[in-house]
Amino acid sequence: MLDNETIRHAARGLFPGGVNSPVRSYRSVDGAPRPIVRGQGAHVFDADGMRYIDYIGAFGPMLLGHAHPAVTAAIQAAAADGTAFGALTPGEVELGRRVAAATGLERLRFVNSGTEATMTAIRLARAATGRDLVVKFDGGYHGHSDGLLVKAGSGVATMGLSDSAGVPGAVAGLTAVLPYNDPASLRQWFESRGGETAAVIVEPVAGNMGLVAPRPEFLTELLHLPREHGALLIADEVITGFRLRYGLSGLLPGADIICLGKIIGGGLPIGAFGGSAALMSQIAPEGPVYQAGTLSGNPLAMAAGAATLDTLAGGAPYRRAEELARHLENALGAASTRAGVEASVARVGSMLTLFFRASPPRDYAEARESDTPAFATFHAAMLGRGVMLPPSQFETWFVSAAHTESDIDATAFAAHEAMHAVAARATP
Ligand SMILES: Cc1ncc(COP(=O)(O)O)c(C=O)c1O
Repeated sequence: MLDNETIRHAARGLFPGGVNSPVRSYRSVDGAPRPIVRGQGAHVFDADGMRYIDYIGAFGPMLLGHAHPAVTAAIQAAAADGTAFGALTPGEVELGRRVAAATGLERLRFVNSGTEATMTAIRLARAATGRDLVVKFDGGYHGHSDGLLVKAGSGVATMGLSDSAGVPGAVAGLTAVLPYNDPASLRQWFESRGGETAAVIVEPVAGNMGLVAPRPEFLTELLHLPREHGALLIADEVITGFRLRYGLSGLLPGADIICLGKIIGGGLPIGAFGGSAALMSQIAPEGPVYQAGTLSGNPLAMAAGAATLDTLAGGAPYRRAEELARHLENALGAASTRAGVEASVARVGSMLTLFFRASPPRDYAEARESDTPAFATFHAAMLGRGVMLPPSQFETWFVSAAHTESDIDATAFAAHEAMHAVAARATP
């Protein structure tokens, strides 16, 4: 059996940064990433045999916890019948029906990742409107397609700048980046460029700048302004879909295109996008918007997704995860207060982020004011005490229905000590 360091060392010789997705490399925190060999419920185990209470939850999908028996059994049964056919399978209908019934989507298409879902949603919006410009929000993440890897420039409403080498300026220049939660800048944008705008893409609850809850007046403008100007609203519910409740978040009713992923695949690779039958009829082969995928609608992912949704459907896992998240929120608040550390917790349902700043941020600019070295100290102290948090200040923690009161109590105890480590660090 290989130990943590042997695995990390081998990975560094194989993969850029030793990982297959950047945040896993722990560049924003102290210490070395822990290779995970096994997960069970709310716990994961590294190659050195250390157990952690897990709040990464695979960055969102694992609302039922790891290796849930119903999901594992569904995957095993599907695998026994073959893993890919390049043909329509009944599993696609099974999951498709569940997703459509819970979301109201008239038509949808399964893809392999959230990135594919949002990328194609943009293509569809451009085709449907005959316009090129797309609006996203600073700190919003919608996967890594070229046109969505765009950050804000210096002004309030700016055409975007490429956020990655290799993205042509001409592509980034088609994406405008506005501050999240700022209805005034959205109004300003639509007054000046509304007629050129194909779509606005938004996370109903921002999960990729740390957790940032939407302001009601921002949601209201999102529901009205694009429509008034002939643009489409794309709700990126890759995180929030089936996370806050069974179905869509409910925060953007009437969005034209919905993107899903994560939970609907039960921990296997998946994404989906959908909308009205009329709009979706533009997708190939019915219409001219091309999209395809060798492994789309993969039988294992369909089976894992259907088993996950069936387990979630009664609603009990949502109540449980949210209640535990509320306890965690309170415990983190108490720990920071007792240690005299400036911190605040943002929480929506079973999603939360502990920010090292006095109040929860309203947008990415405020999130960036957090004391990231304090977060790094806190993260390392928690990891050493058996609590695995997302390795960045700007990620959301996910509580699952598999966490228990004793997990939260143990996390609270660790947080109490970790906050003192942060306080000690601040004292010269
Ligand atoms: C809101 C949102 N949209 C899209 C994506 C991209 O999904 P994937 O990583 O499956 O490509 C993510 C990934 O974290 C996400 O959080």
